[in-house]
Amino acid sequence: MNLTSYKTESLHGEVDCPGDKSVSQRIVIIGSLLNCDMNVNGFLNAQDPISTVNALNSIGSSISINENKVTLRKREVMFKDPQQELNLGNSGTGARLLLGLISGLGLRLTMRGDSSLEKRPMSRVIKPLEMMGAKLSSDSGTLPIKTLGSKIINNFEYKMPIASAQVKSCLLLAALSSQKNIKITEPKITRDHTERMIEFFGGEILYENNQNSKIIQLNYSELEPKNSFDVPGDFSSAAFIIVATIISKGSEVVIKNVGLNESRKGLLDVLILMGANLEIKNKKKASNEIVGDIYISSSELRGIDVPDNIIPNIIDEIPILSVAACFAEGQTIIKNAAELRVKESDRLHAISQGLIKLKIKHDIFEDGISISGTSKELKCDESIDSFDDHRIAMSFLIAGIRSDNFIRVMNCKNIETSFPNFKSIMNTIGMKINEED
Ligand code: S3P
Repeated sequence: MNLTSYKTESLHGEVDCPGDKSVSQRIVIIGSLLNCDMNVNGFLNAQDPISTVNALNSIGSSISINENKVTLRKREVMFKDPQQELNLGNSGTGARLLLGLISGLGLRLTMRGDSSLEKRPMSRVIKPLEMMGAKLSSDSGTLPIKTLGSKIINNFEYKMPIASAQVKSCLLLAALSSQKNIKITEPKITRDHTERMIEFFGGEILYENNQNSKIIQLNYSELEPKNSFDVPGDFSSAAFIIVATIISKGSEVVIKNVGLNESRKGLLDVLILMGANLEIKNKKKASNEIVGDIYISSSELRGIDVPDNIIPNIIDEIPILSVAACFAEGQTIIKNAAELRVKESDRLHAISQGLIKLKIKHDIFEDGISISGTSKELKCDESIDSFDDHRIAMSFLIAGIRSDNFIRVMNCKNIETSFPNFKSIMNTIGMKINEED
């Protein structure tokens, strides 16, 4: 499916932020472990969380989805080996977190994914899970992976070589589901939704902060069921609306109920450093996460050197930050972001290829990119490739706002993995995004 995004004058309105993908995936996993009746509100009904729900149901969970509400039911038998292979589709988070849960439970099964997911590195979770006592088999450190039972050790300690919330969460879930303690050191602070959720259900986690690194220690205790959970809005989806409003002229948009977790909202800090007009109102706590409304208006941006330690907290927002950088005065430099090479696509390459089509001056490095902004309208005579990556597709569609006519992005079906109503929300506030016949 190809989409075309037309030049837009200004954006206005108030929109509800779609549910957070990371939290949606975690609540169905931790909710299955709790084995209780629970209603989840604000669930992201998109392909990635659906893949996770389907996988959980095939190992014994009882989860049903009705639009943005999810119901978990208490079962007689908690978990079982599935009849068929589990297919996590495009979801790296689903695959890595479930490998932790399944290893902790000692289930035997085969996990697969789509062609993109089967290329992504899994040795980052295979290695520590094996050190914990899981038996896993994989040909090349990628999916498909066979899980062959486990005997998980108590008080496992692990220093993560890379800053990855997926790895941290995988190991926390392996410990939680095998009822063991674990101590993990992360080299830079990464998103902490798993820790917050465990605490929300009464679990004990101790923390030690050392400059930018952090130690997370789970002292196992049985979690306490609750009958409802509220998923915050997804900051990573809000990011597209934020940048769209900032780069268009004379615009004012409000996004309601956005998750403002410190380890996720790094893009706000970066955009404020770049000169963006942003205000947060109505901050409150919901299910141990902070949410609030973001008020955005058009802004004149200036390029900056993005601080290193913020990179893990903006990792999913770098494609749309790159689009913001196209319209900033001067240069924006992003470094220490080599993880972008192993996301749904090689995102540094995908961003660079798109910028070439937009004739934006930039340099790509092994671990980052520097982008020189322009005040002119973008002239884009050729279609841009999404590289089958939802965040690349949405980012370049947002750039269409400042084109001299339109920008056409190829292969946008993947938007359904994280933000199915992207086109309709963006069009509600004034963008013109059309699907080709
Ligand atoms: C996620 C963590 C991030 C992020 C991904 C979702 C999560 O990956 O890129 O989209 O839900 O834990 P890493 O922390 O592994 O880089």
